Amino acid sequence: MSNYEHTREEVKNYIIARVPLVVIDTSERARAEKLLRSIAAELSIDISYYTDAKQVRSLSKPGVSVNVDRDPLPYVAGEFSHKRRATFALGDCRKTGEDSYYTRELLNTVYLAKESLGTLILITPDSIWPRLARFGMLVRLDLPDLQERKQQIAAFVKDHKSRFRIEWTEPDIEYAAAVLSGFSEVQVNNILSSTLVEHEGLQRRDLSNLANQKSRLYAAVPSIHPVQVSEDLTVSGLRRLKEWLEDKRKIFFAPEETLRARDLEPPRAILLLGVPGCGKSLSAKMVASVWRLPLFRFDLGTVYDKYVGESEKKMNDALQFLDNVSPCVVWVDEIEKALSVSDGGNDVGRRVLGQFLFWMQESRSRVFLVATANDIASLPPELFRKGRFSELFFVDLPNRSERREVLCQYCGKALHWIPEPRELDELAGICEGFSYADIEYAVKGLAERLLLDPDTRVDADTLAECFDKQIPYSKTNAETLRALRAWGADRAIHASGSQEVHST
Ligand SMILES: Nc1ncnc2c1ncn2[C@@H]1O[C@H](COP(=O)(O)OP(=O)(O)O)[C@@H](O)[C@H]1O
Ligand SMILES: [Mg+2]
Repeated sequence: MSNYEHTREEVKNYIIARVPLVVIDTSERARAEKLLRSIAAELSIDISYYTDAKQVRSLSKPGVSVNVDRDPLPYVAGEFSHKRRATFALGDCRKTGEDSYYTRELLNTVYLAKESLGTLILITPDSIWPRLARFGMLVRLDLPDLQERKQQIAAFVKDHKSRFRIEWTEPDIEYAAAVLSGFSEVQVNNILSSTLVEHEGLQRRDLSNLANQKSRLYAAVPSIHPVQVSEDLTVSGLRRLKEWLEDKRKIFFAPEETLRARDLEPPRAILLLGVPGCGKSLSAKMVASVWRLPLFRFDLGTVYDKYVGESEKKMNDALQFLDNVSPCVVWVDEIEKALSVSDGGNDVGRRVLGQFLFWMQESRSRVFLVATANDIASLPPELFRKGRFSELFFVDLPNRSERREVLCQYCGKALHWIPEPRELDELAGICEGFSYADIEYAVKGLAERLLLDPDTRVDADTLAECFDKQIPYSKTNAETLRALRAWGADRAIHASGSQEVHST
């Protein structure tokens, strides 16, 4: 049963039981109105409904309205004194949390309701003054859940199919329903309608924009930065990591019930550890691009503050923001650096790290964390405890076939030239020990020369010379590389999945 149906059932039962006060805790007034209207119809009763804009109306008899000059309480009190079993809902309330003239008036009205077996319904996201709350029952009307959003979007598509070009199929509707979590019914409708009008239909590429709408809803947090990811992001190699992400994507987007039925959990986080310039940061963007989710870079280092309590608060705000904008991908780049700021032997650092780790493990929202690290020695061991990272990947220098692939990628793009297979083999041999970034650098160096001097020769020999002149990462950092590989071999999955890890 969805939250809406559940809440509807509760409110209905309270009305039948003539509970004098029912509080519907929600900021979606229109949804509460819809709920009350359907209860009025089902029970064949009249529910009077007040809002500042439309004054007192009947939810069952259209057109009947009474102007109470923005002060409904005397009118409601009058109704409860004259009629038995009257039901009255306030869609607009003033502050209800404290003892005030207004809340005392409300309390008097509730007394009258109690005597005449009436029910007063308050629709408000505010807290309720405890003396008042004692008379009633509180129900929470949440935002539409996944199932409801799916129904709403499917109905929208059906209604507009005949007049607009709509490319969305069943899986697209499911995806849209998943990314639009946190939006109210009205907002979902606004987003769909404006997209429909702007593009004269709903195209498949509109789906990635949907996800970006989310961050506009919530106040920005200084430690979290949205990152724009291009749709045609190319990442060479890393086959095993790509396969893993493809499989986990389906699980990440699976409905809660499907996972619960098999005692499964959505993937939470990966740690990409390894050689610089081999696509760790690039892969964080790849996840967002392939999963069509918004990407946020989380700058953990800026959370630490010298004032007592401030760091915890900043971390709380950041985690709350991420929970709100989920589903999303959050990227913590070079996590070892952020955590070394946190270390410094002080309690605050450890508490804030603890807060983050706890959230990583316990948060129920669909936030997928991609952390990268170049250096494992400084990472705190508690980071690796079971349940935190779904997987650890080791990103190594490209092997021979990966070097061929990345050569093709950059030669094609920057030089508009693809070497022959034989030349590719040769070049891949020459650039052994180069990182992906080293290879990109050499190829683009040649492309720059070509731009400055159009007579520059573009062929395998010229490119080979470029490689010869460059000192690759493996030469400048041989020691670090050895240590990294030794650590990775024992504890992590090789991101390229190849057996010929260190060979050419
Ligand atoms: N696997 C790859 N495929 C294509 N380009 C890559 C790859 N890895 C790195 N590059 C290039 O090198 C640049 C730096 O890589 P990056 O992902 O930042 O490395 P790091 O592993 O240090 O985070 C990228 O922006 C991209 O241009
Ligand atoms: Mg990086």
